[in-house]
Amino acid sequence: MSLLEVRNCTIRYQNGTPAVSNVSFSVEKGEIVSLVGESGSGKTTMIRAILGLLPPGGKVTEGEIVLDGRDLLKISEHEMQNIRGREIAMIFQDVGLSMDPVKLINKQYVEAIQVHEDISKEESYDKAVDMLRRMHLPDPKRVMASYPFELSGGMKQRVGIAMGMTTQPKILLADEPTSALDVTIQAQVVREMKELRDKYGATIILVTHNMGVASYLSDKIGVMCKSEMVEYGPRDEIIFSPKEQYTKDLIEAVPKMGGKRFAK
Ligand SMILES: Nc1ncnc2c1ncn2[C@@H]1O[C@H](COP(=O)(O)OP(=O)(O)OP(=O)(O)O)[C@@H](O)[C@H]1O
Ligand SMILES: [Mg+2]
Repeated sequence: MSLLEVRNCTIRYQNGTPAVSNVSFSVEKGEIVSLVGESGSGKTTMIRAILGLLPPGGKVTEGEIVLDGRDLLKISEHEMQNIRGREIAMIFQDVGLSMDPVKLINKQYVEAIQVHEDISKEESYDKAVDMLRRMHLPDPKRVMASYPFELSGGMKQRVGIAMGMTTQPKILLADEPTSALDVTIQAQVVREMKELRDKYGATIILVTHNMGVASYLSDKIGVMCKSEMVEYGPRDEIIFSPKEQYTKDLIEAVPKMGGKRFAK
């Protein structure tokens, strides 16, 4: 059985038209899966449903979301709270909003590590600093001694990625985690995410507008268009033999480097 199976999922907000229509996909342990597609196609809605935290008015009206054999739509809110953070964690599209504004990064980060690992504050601090350095934050100790509002959007994104990866959930959901970064740093951070996945075997579901990022990072790619997942499959299949015109258009939009768009 797959680690995560989303089966025939339909999600609606108050107005009733589906934001996600009959979407199915499965994720194996250790895979990186990217969801790509136009703005408003339902990517954030889909991954928030996996976390069990849809915005007010949002509801999964049909389907199943099965993690390790448990249908997350059938368990109690209390059970879901235990799963959230420990088994499923999310880096939000606006990561700043998920940080505690009145707590130093140091305190938030060390607490987050200590929820999962029985190690001292000092060890947790060192681990955090090491992770921030991997995310190419130039002065990790200053970042640790800052409040979220003292950091730029791109810095907060990198702190969010670092925290998400350090606490090693079964599944890390990441909503456009690199979109606020300039391209060179984006490339470095994406490379680090891939390395960390190789090191820790993290399972990641990533939302991105950028087919280039998806192609570089992913084992599988899901293409979303107008609430539907129009194509889902292994990275090579989607990149080198896309079936849908919409997928072809997304691929065409990626700039060529040295005459080539993607390496095999
Ligand atoms: N809180 C909400 N209340 C009502 N409708 C919503 C809400 N959030 C999203 N929607 C609607 O659901 C649909 C999908 O939105 P969603 O945020 O999932 O798209 P997305 O693919 O993540 O887009 P983007 O790339 O711009 O982040 C859109 O039609 C949107 O208007
Ligand atoms: Mg979104």
